[in-house]
Formats: sequence, C-alpha cells, structure tokens
Amino acid sequence: MDRYSVLLISVLFFSFSLGITSIDPGKFLQCLKLQSKTGFIPVYTPTSSKFSSIWQSTVHNIRFITSTTLKPEFIILPSNESHVQASVICAKQHGILMKIRSGGHDYEGLSSISDVPFLILDLSNLRSISVDVENKTAWVQSGALLGELYYRIAEKSKTLAFPAGVCPTVGAGGSFSGGGYGTLLRKYGLAADNVIDAQIVDVNGRILDRESMGEDLFWAIRGGSPGSFGVILSWKIRLVNVPPTVTVFRIEKMLRDDPGFTSLVHRWQEVAHNLPQELLIRAAIAPVGTEERRTIKASFISLFLGDSKKLLTVMKQGFPELGLESKDCTEKSWIRSVLWYAGMPDNGTLNDLLNRTQSKRFAKGKSDYVKTPIPVVGLEGAWKLLMKEVRPVMTMHPFRGKMDEIAETEIPYPHRNGTLFQIQYLTIWTEQGSEESERHINWMRKFYEHMATYVSKTPREAYIGYRDIDLGVSKNGTANSLQGSAWGSKYFKSNYKRLVQVKRKVDPENFFRNEQSIPSN
Ligand SMILES: Cc1cc2nc3c(=O)[nH]c(=O)nc-3n(C[C@H](O)[C@H](O)[C@H](O)COP(=O)(O)OP(=O)(O)OC[C@H]3O[C@@H](n4cnc5c(N)ncnc54)[C@H](O)[C@@H]3O)c2cc1C
Ligand SMILES: *[C@@H]1O[C@H](CO)[C@@H](O)[C@H](O)[C@H]1NC(C)=O
Ligand SMILES: *[C@@H]1O[C@H](CO)[C@@H](O)[C@H](O)[C@H]1NC(C)=O
Ligand SMILES: *[C@@H]1O[C@H](CO)[C@@H](O)[C@H](O)[C@H]1NC(C)=O
Ligand SMILES: *[C@@H]1O[C@H](CO)[C@@H](O)[C@H](O)[C@H]1NC(C)=O
Ligand SMILES: *[C@@H]1O[C@H](CO)[C@@H](O)[C@H](O)[C@H]1NC(C)=O
Ligand SMILES: *[C@@H]1O[C@H](CO)[C@@H](O)[C@H](O)[C@H]1NC(C)=O
Repeated sequence: MDRYSVLLISVLFFSFSLGITSIDPGKFLQCLKLQSKTGFIPVYTPTSSKFSSIWQSTVHNIRFITSTTLKPEFIILPSNESHVQASVICAKQHGILMKIRSGGHDYEGLSSISDVPFLILDLSNLRSISVDVENKTAWVQSGALLGELYYRIAEKSKTLAFPAGVCPTVGAGGSFSGGGYGTLLRKYGLAADNVIDAQIVDVNGRILDRESMGEDLFWAIRGGSPGSFGVILSWKIRLVNVPPTVTVFRIEKMLRDDPGFTSLVHRWQEVAHNLPQELLIRAAIAPVGTEERRTIKASFISLFLGDSKKLLTVMKQGFPELGLESKDCTEKSWIRSVLWYAGMPDNGTLNDLLNRTQSKRFAKGKSDYVKTPIPVVGLEGAWKLLMKEVRPVMTMHPFRGKMDEIAETEIPYPHRNGTLFQIQYLTIWTEQGSEESERHINWMRKFYEHMATYVSKTPREAYIGYRDIDLGVSKNGTANSLQGSAWGSKYFKSNYKRLVQVKRKVDPENFFRNEQSIPSN
C-alpha cells in the first residue's frame, strides 16, 4: 500500500469515529465494476426492493434489527471468489468498514450490524462442499451451513462425520473460525482442531492457502477472533470415523417429582467428563410449566458411538444413578442422530438438513467453563433464579477426552485440559422492544453474577462462539491491545498475545475489524 492510501484510510477512520459518512456510493460501485474480473458482482443498496429481506435473511438474533438500526450501505453477495477479492480491495480503498457474514448466527449480531457506516460481505452463495472419501477430507466453502456439510458427507459415506456444531443452520465460516463444537467433541475435539488447510482473502485482496499464508496466520484463523485476519473462503477439513450404528437417549427429570434431582445433576458433574470418549451426555436445565406447577427440568441428552447393548454396559458402570434402560435407547445412523440432536422431526427426511430457513428469536447468551463441580448450594441457587425467567436454559456440555490431549497453545481456542464442562446460558423471548430486552438481559447478567463463584476464574473464561459484548469491545480501529485484553484473555487466555502479534503482521492498519476483533496496536 502506498503512503497516500494509508493516509486516506486513517482520515476515513477518523471521520467515521466522528460519525460522518464519507462513503460515495457511486465511486464504490465504480471500483467494484473496475475490479471485477468475472463479470457482474451482485451488490444491493438500500434503494433495492430486496435489500431489507437480504439484510435480515440470516440474522438469527432479531433483537438487533429494529426500525432505528443503522442499515448497511451495501450488501455484496459474491458468487465467485474473485468477487470477495474485489470487495476487499474496494472497501479498503474507500475506507468502508466491512462486516463478513457466513451463517449469520453471531450471538451479538456482529456480522449484520454496526454503529458506524458499513457494508456486509455475505458469503451465503459461496457454499460448495466437496467430499473426498478416499482421503477422508473435504473442502467446505464458508457459506455452507453445518446441515449441508453433514448431508454431503452422509451422501458419500455412512461412517464418516465431522465434529462441528449441533444447529444445522450455523455457518462454516463463523463457527470454525471460533472453534466449533458438538456431539463429537469428547472423541475428536473441535471443528477448528480438524481444519488442515484453508483459503483466505487477505487485506491486499490476495487468495492465500496454508502454505502461502504461513503457520502463524493459519494458527490464528482456527479459533482466533473471527473477522480479524481476513475473509475465509473455504476450509479443508479432516473427516472422522463413526460406527454405522450409534445410540441416542433423552432422559428427563423434574425437581418437583424427584427428591434426588439436585444430587443427580451434581453426580452428572462428577461423571460425565470421565465416561468413555465415545459417550456424550449433555445436561440441559430449564424451568417448565406455569404458575404453581412451575418447576425445573433436567434433560440428559446423549449420543453414544456404538450400539445400545454396549451403551447399557457403559452406563451401568459409569453412571448407574441415571437409571438408563434399554427402552430409553434408540439406535440410528450417525446422520439420523444429527437430525435427532438438532430437534428435527423424527419422521423428516435427510433433506431437512438442506433447509436454509432458520428460526428467528430474541436472545441473550453467555458462557462459562467449570473446573470443579458446582456444589449443591450453587445449583439450588441457580434453580431459584431460573424459575424467575420466562424461557432460559442452561446447557452443560462435558469436556475432557480429546480436549485434554490437545495443548492449550495448539490453536487459539484455549479451554482445554482440566475443564470438566462448558455451560451455555441462553434466554429467549418473543416480543420486540427495548424494555423487554433490557428485562431479559438484566436477568441474564444477574444469573451470570450468581455463577461467578463456581466457575473458572482469573480469567473467567468464555467461548467466543457464544459471543458476549458485555465482556468488552474494541470499538474502533485505534483501540489498543490492553483495552482488548479483558475479553481477549477470557476468550483466548495467553494465546491473545500471539493473536495480537499475528494481527500486527498481517493487517497492521486494522482493516478487518469488528466490536471484538483482535486489535493491531
Ligand atoms: C442457534 C445457535 C446454535 C448454535 N450452536 C452451536 C454449537 O452447537 N456449537 C458451536 O460451537 N457453536 C454454536 N453456535 C455458535 C456459532 O458457532 C457462532 O455463533 C458462529 O460464530 C456462527 O457462525 P456463522 O457463520 O453462522 O455466523 P456469522 O454471524 O456469519 O459470523 C460470526 C462471526 O464470524 C465472522 N465471520 C463469518 N464468516 C466469516 C468468514 N468467512 N471469514 C472471516 N470471518 C467470518 C463474522 O464477521 C462474525 O464476527 C450456535 C449459535 C446459534 C445462534
Ligand atoms: C470464478 O470465476 C473464474 C474465472 O471466470 C472461474 O474459473 C471459476 O470457476 C469461478 N468460480 C466459481 C465458484 O464460480
Ligand atoms: C487423495 O489425495 C491424493 C494426494 O493428495 C490425491 O492424489 C488423490 O487424487 C486424492 N483422492 C481423491 C479421490 O481425490
Ligand atoms: C411427522 O409427524 C408429525 C407429527 O406426528 C406430523 O404432523 C407430520 O405430518 C409428519 N410428517 C411427515 C413428513 O410424515
Ligand atoms: C424449513 O425450515 C423452516 C423453519 O424451521 C420451516 O418453517 C419450513 O417449513 C421448512 N421448509 C421445508 C421445505 O421443510
Ligand atoms: C493436562 O494436565 C495434566 C495435569 O495437570 C498434565 O499432567 C498433562 O500434561 C496436561 N496435558 C496437556 C496436553 O497439557
Ligand atoms: C476509538 O478508540 C480511541 C482509542 O482507544 C478512543 O479514544 C475513542 O474514544 C474511540 N472512538 C470511538 C468512537 O469509540
């Protein structure tokens, strides 16, 4: 970059921070046209009739879309990788903040909104998946959703799978960038642990692969803050083996009916992470019923990589307190277990995994990591608070297994050795309105405060995949690394320092940025 454009960009950053729009739409579109080597680049401006529906199409958390939300100046929908290159070059040239969007599931809506003028680079049309069964690998473009990925793998093999998230409409672009975990975590680790190559468009508009980007950048994009280093075009992933038959079960217990309820949950904390790696038992805790019938329900939701006979033996030995019986168990193919775990209808077809229409909701989420079991008194306090909220859920996902075997510095995702389980807190509501939002968000903050005593400390660790803006922001291009360090160390522990070093090297002007991106100074 020459000195003039560096100067120009700094001037533009400065005017953004003063709230001045300095984008000339005509000139920007002209630039795209000029840069386009492969014909027309699909781009929408607010005057287009399709604009609003495209903008909102994949925003999962609709809390962020209101009548006063700042609209993007442009939405670019690349249909060719060269369109991504052109977008980066032109956005940089014109000093426009670029938000990158793959599946749109960001918990804080960061891929779709901004409080300064911006554009959205939406990758949903770059979603090809090619599965190589012989080599047990696949190339997955960022706009592919997890359901599509699982479907394409199953199309070619009943005994290959990939250890990524549970929700079929989550995007590969954002989720592998932040780690990505699901039912195979204990056996195979994170999605990011199983990325073996990638294609990225860097700040100069070049397409790099693992070899040409170098190991530092390749390290950073596997779990570092998404959107900090470049636009991921595609991932090459290592597929993993699953048996032709797996077994699932769901056992529900009610606090109201069961005097042993809390000690059972407590017992789960002691054993779930110690069970064989082939067995995952999540515990989801939520209030159910209304008024005086209201109580707390614990759902133990499980996937076992093996048949039900073996599972019963394992459970008898490892977690007899749950009382699993053969009538509770259902044997399935792995791909059917994906539908089941995602809560999709049992009589549905595998094609349901290709449905890109997602449910919408108002939500606030947070996360924690637990290193010693939460005492009964802590659990009982949690039940009391859960009862006060409309639709909260606390989902506990056991770790250990493969997660303990991978060094904390292997990739930026650091929540490993010694972690017993992760908790996701989520509260969902259905009415628009800032008062309504505030009430639920306040409840969430109070709940998080209650849990502080019982979870990881200094730092209180958090999962960037469950992005939480309460942990702090790096608001603009000049935020320094110390400001970032509050959320930085929570998400990345000591890996944060190396992420800042990589950022300085590959994007010193901080072109790729969002509210929680790695700062360059
Ligand atoms: C209903 C629901 C279920 C979920 N279930 C799971 C789960 O089971 N396991 C799990 O690990 N997580 C889960 N998540 C969290 C999810 O992994 C993250 O929200 C993830 O960031 C979503 O990726 P996305 O592409 O859909 O989102 P986006 O909103 O498109 O992107 C998220 C972030 O990544 C950046 N980004 C997106 N694409 C790219 C790209 N190509 N290059 C560079 N940066 C990019 C965005 O700018 C944004 O900052 C869930 C989230 C929701 C809402
Ligand atoms: C992108 O365009 C190039 C050049 O025209 C072409 O070779 C390539 O196949 C295109 N890629 C896609 C995904 O369409
Ligand atoms: C498997 O990988 C090898 C080496 O990279 C390659 O030559 C071969 O074509 C691949 N197999 C398939 C089916 O693509
Ligand atoms: C699946 O079952 C539900 C509930 O029993 C029913 O409403 C639905 O029509 C069924 N769908 C199919 C595709 O059979
Ligand atoms: C796709 O999913 C949406 C949301 O879950 C649902 O309303 C719709 O009926 C589904 N479409 C098909 C074709 O199954
Ligand atoms: C995990 O922690 C244990 C106990 O502190 C230690 O012995 C082991 O070396 C650690 N493993 C890794 C991969 O860091
Ligand atoms: C941008 O960051 C600088 C330095 O951290 C800070 O002083 C300034 O207030 C920030 N501007 C905005 C708009 O947040």
